[in-house]
Amino acid sequence: MKWIITFFGSGIGKKLLMSLTGLFLILFLAVHLLGNLQLLKDDGGHSFNVYAKFMTTNPLIKTIGYGNYFFILLHAFVGISLAWYNRNAKGQKYAVFNSMHTTWASKNMALLGSLILAFILIHMGDFWLKMKLDQLPMVTYPGIEGEIKDLYFRVAEAFKNPVLVVSYVVGMIILSYHLQHGFQSAFQTLGINHQKYTPAIKALGMAYAILIPFGFAIIPVYHFLLK
Ligand code: HEM
Repeated sequence: MKWIITFFGSGIGKKLLMSLTGLFLILFLAVHLLGNLQLLKDDGGHSFNVYAKFMTTNPLIKTIGYGNYFFILLHAFVGISLAWYNRNAKGQKYAVFNSMHTTWASKNMALLGSLILAFILIHMGDFWLKMKLDQLPMVTYPGIEGEIKDLYFRVAEAFKNPVLVVSYVVGMIILSYHLQHGFQSAFQTLGINHQKYTPAIKALGMAYAILIPFGFAIIPVYHFLLK
């Protein structure tokens, strides 16, 4: 047991935790975006509300959701402690830390990550918390038993506010920079460093880091301009 604490307290152990939790969060982002794209459907929120009800009541998804909250906090906490460790260990860092090509994003991962954490907290306060506190209107749909929460209404209302729309777009630019370094860094930490595969991982990481935040950003812009 003691060796586990010692390992995850070391620089390499922290990098490994960042890599594994980061890959989980990358997966979460893709699933979250796929669900949220239903906010672009012109059906008055029917598909999105039915999907949101499933996601928030299915016991398996709920359990994965608790894991997700834990991984977000762990990723943020270990990231800050790793940045602190690297600052204090300047000049004597492990080879693995220095082997990567440095970019503006790679040097500012802790700052970018802290801004994303602030975004997530404000974002959850706006939608998730209002849903949990039952502060949403209820709707009924033919073929669906009982009343369900009208989360679509809350999202559509929020995105009438230009300040919020601009904050989301800025938040997604920050997320894009964080992912541009984070995606390939996660694979590098796991030791996946291959002449043939590394360029493909880098290209995939870049495509992911641009397309996923872009997909999120079009939702508030679409609601603001066209709804
Ligand atoms: C336009 C973009 C986005 C929209 C419209 C949106 C919408 C929502 C809504 C309606 C909820 C509450 C219902 C649910 O739990 O699924 C939610 C939850 C959440 N969102 Fe987003 N989201 C967006 C972008 C993001 C981004 C970029 C992140 C992370 C960086 C994020 C992280 C989360 C988290 C962690 C939760 C709680 C999930 C859970 O309870 O399991 N969201 N989002």
